[in-house]
Amino acid sequence: MAPFGKHPRTIVHDGQPFNAEPPLGLLRRSFITPGEVFFSRNHGSVPEVDPDGYRLAVGGLVERPLSLSMEDLCGGFPKSEVVAVVECAGNRREGMMEVAPIPGETPWGAGAVGNARWAGVPLREVLALAGVGDGARHAAFVGLDEVEGEDGSFPYGGSVPLEKALGPEVLLAYEMNGELLPREHGFPLRVMAPGYYGARSVKWLSGIELRETPSENHFQASEYKLFPPNATEETADLSEGLMLGEMQVNAAVCEPGEDEESSAGPVSVRGYALAGGGRRVERVDVSQDGGETWTQADLGEGAEEPWAWTFWEATIDLGPGEHRVVVRAVDSSAATQPKAAAEVWNFKGYANNSWHGVRVVVR
Ligand code: MTE
Repeated sequence: MAPFGKHPRTIVHDGQPFNAEPPLGLLRRSFITPGEVFFSRNHGSVPEVDPDGYRLAVGGLVERPLSLSMEDLCGGFPKSEVVAVVECAGNRREGMMEVAPIPGETPWGAGAVGNARWAGVPLREVLALAGVGDGARHAAFVGLDEVEGEDGSFPYGGSVPLEKALGPEVLLAYEMNGELLPREHGFPLRVMAPGYYGARSVKWLSGIELRETPSENHFQASEYKLFPPNATEETADLSEGLMLGEMQVNAAVCEPGEDEESSAGPVSVRGYALAGGGRRVERVDVSQDGGETWTQADLGEGAEEPWAWTFWEATIDLGPGEHRVVVRAVDSSAATQPKAAAEVWNFKGYANNSWHGVRVVVR
């Protein structure tokens, strides 16, 4: 067993903070990703929170500040469910690292993503009870974990614009796949902001603050931002840069695996595709010649669910030799993926949604 009861085949990047992702074949096995397969992305400790003593503070630009226990949250509000994909902004950073080094960042493969059934209180119900105050434009979240910084430790945080926070899909989730949240996924309460990069779905939630401006937490103000390709760690002004929000359309080949051998004839290719911001995956194109020619994959489960990922499958005919099988998806805004990681390279290694592919050797 890997730490936190993760599947034995889990790829553990770091033990502390705990960062781990599943191999892609395992990830593609189930439309709803089981907890033991779901990636885990942490910047600091994985706190052990006593649910009895737990309180959620709601404050800032609200009419009535609140302090809510788990009993208040589970008993005093409607319970809502959403099947939502969570993608880390660093998913597929490994592919960007092949373009140019990205020191000090986790080399995620394409497994920093998972799709679960989340249940909890719609955030907007809690905000309605608190009363949204004048001037509130952003909902900022803070966790109970401790991240080591230069000036001591501090908790992880982030924010979403108020209009996102008021969407019915955004939950204060206390369940994942029909069970209480596992500890490493934020027990007893986390934000689930479907359609946004995972960074904004703050785990071990301790506070919500309505603000005029985005959160000033380091992870909102200086990390999880997109910089141009010519910016470097030395030259970038971290107060600049685009704060990442909605996920970009993305897709990956999960089977066959990289460098897998196959016999000549029809080969089944399978993977996942996702779109952010409530957009749907409209089409998935697969190429067996590195993008010279394309065929359309069949879309499976998830194609009709706005916040979930979509599973896809295509059968291609492969003759003897080496093939580069690549995939790209198109979302309902007609956005598609760039060909090469070099086109979207940035020094933090975020949002790599270039074509994903595997080398397949046919004997
Ligand atoms: N929340 C807290 N408190 N601390 C964290 O380190 N990591 C964020 C987000 N919420 C993080 C957090 C990031 S970057 C991602 S991608 C998701 O949690 C990962 O969620 P998971 O570990 O449940 O897969």
